[in-house]
Amino acid sequence: MSDSTAPQRITTRTLQRMARDGQRISMLTAYDYPTAQVLDESGIDVLLVGDSLAMVVQGHETTLPVTMDQMIYHAEMVGRAARRAMVVVDLPFPEGQLSIENSLQCGARVLKETECHAVKLEGGAEQSERIGALVTAGIPVMAHVGLRPQNVLVDGGYRVQKDTDRLVKDALAAESAGAFCVLIECVSREIGKAITDAVSVPTIGIGAGPDTNGQVLVTNDLIGLTSGYLPKFVRQMADVRGTIRKAVTDYRDAIDDGSFPGKKETF
Ligand code: KIV
Repeated sequence: MSDSTAPQRITTRTLQRMARDGQRISMLTAYDYPTAQVLDESGIDVLLVGDSLAMVVQGHETTLPVTMDQMIYHAEMVGRAARRAMVVVDLPFPEGQLSIENSLQCGARVLKETECHAVKLEGGAEQSERIGALVTAGIPVMAHVGLRPQNVLVDGGYRVQKDTDRLVKDALAAESAGAFCVLIECVSREIGKAITDAVSVPTIGIGAGPDTNGQVLVTNDLIGLTSGYLPKFVRQMADVRGTIRKAVTDYRDAIDDGSFPGKKETF
């Protein structure tokens, strides 16, 4: 039975309409049920179960170690929480690099085993055939061009991407293959705009300037729950790490001085 109180779900069409109407698209990463619920209730349009979870949740140095089974585990929680947002799941390394057959199996797992709605795949022109096969099979694809974190070892680090011609070609190839949206990472404002002007699907930028149709950040960076290096493109809007530390030290001190549990917390 359908839930009459459920908000209208954001779909590929909604995003295309928003971009056409000049309405900006908001996107954030989510990896668990309570966080996804807050983001969804706050009106974020797209939630991304990003392979960044390898770094911000699992504590690895790159996104490479996270597995498809682990992505599915987190996607189940996020899919269950989101009532309005569209939920996109990253194909982790090397599921978007092995055979197309393998990517189809992974994309199908996302749609069958989680309540999520699309996959994200790193790469542009070289991924055209794979994007086409996924879309033909009924699996919506968000393409990810510009800096590709799964390529970090080949590139020798994370760098702003500068080859305008190649980046525009990548985005156009992804669009022609059927991608419903192009995520652009770490390029100049000019390149972010050039790609957005060139394609007719929505673009969502992370470190790609203000002219893309939408913006995405890693939630843990936004809320101040990561430690150490923060990329230039992040705006940290809260200090959740500090808030947790204060609550925990207050708790520890209250145990130390015998004030917890007090009368109110005792039967
Ligand atoms: O995995 C991730 O968090 C990403 C970011 C670029 C948003 O892909």
